[in-house]
Amino acid sequence: MTFLYHADSERGAEWATLFAERAPEIAFEYRPDEIDPDSVRFLAVWNPPANMLQRYRNLEAIFSLGAGVDQFDLGVIPASLPLVRMVEPGIAQGMAEYVSLSVMLLHRHFLDYAEQQRQHIWRIKRFHPASRLRVGILGAGVLAQAVIAMMRSFGFSLGVWSRSQKTIEGVDCYHGEEGLNTLLPTCEILVCLVPLTPETCGILNSALFSKLPQGAALINCGRGQHLVQEDLLDALATGQISRAILDVIEPEPPSKEHPFWQHDKIFLTPHTASMTQPDTAVDVVIANIRRHRAGETMIGIVDRSSLY
Ligand code: OXD
Repeated sequence: MTFLYHADSERGAEWATLFAERAPEIAFEYRPDEIDPDSVRFLAVWNPPANMLQRYRNLEAIFSLGAGVDQFDLGVIPASLPLVRMVEPGIAQGMAEYVSLSVMLLHRHFLDYAEQQRQHIWRIKRFHPASRLRVGILGAGVLAQAVIAMMRSFGFSLGVWSRSQKTIEGVDCYHGEEGLNTLLPTCEILVCLVPLTPETCGILNSALFSKLPQGAALINCGRGQHLVQEDLLDALATGQISRAILDVIEPEPPSKEHPFWQHDKIFLTPHTASMTQPDTAVDVVIANIRRHRAGETMIGIVDRSSLY
């Protein structure tokens, strides 16, 4: 009954130490070549290995090492085999930090000042109280809620959009197409945090940009496939979008010739908005295995109809 961590060995070794301390009853391994694949009951992976299901024939659960699960082909994973998203406090905190920092950089014009510095320009741009800046968030899951909690403490006006109706204290919640059309014209900054599904693929496109106020900024922490890249370039050229902070891009990394590298209104980070933190993630995974062994439902199981 082995738990196999199938990802980078440096972090695997960290997980091994934490498992040994916190759940010595679970046989943990992070070196796939050291074990009999038939002994593996729990598999933790980011990118699923080739022939995952043929190689590990006795799985009871697959744990995604990230919050997203779009890297898995749900068409081939039997519905009886639970796929569990990483829902852990460390990843939520990391995302809250990244989005808050990005919003702050925009709110306090730091990216403009970086440009000015390169040109030796000393010029103040006025800023308004945070409460006058409307930040719209696409997505209302665990990560979005951590973002909301942190951003609320700065006093931003927040609007959230999700597929189905949600209620989040102190935040205007919208859902469905009509809700999106109501939210977008009010947002000076739009943050994409929705999971990647066939419905949300390409959601950041010209039609959506045209509903934002002129000069709005975009932050994408979802997936590169959420964004129609040509549409962003067009929207930046006309000034409909003033700046974009992108943590994700399709493909990753982009080619050396990709226009986003050089674009002075695009700030790129290398898919690092958040990271699963072993110290907190291990507790969540162990608790889930214990739940599973007690015949209870694990937390974070992917719903096959919504695909997240
Ligand atoms: C994730 C990611 O899904 O890092 O956790 O993108």
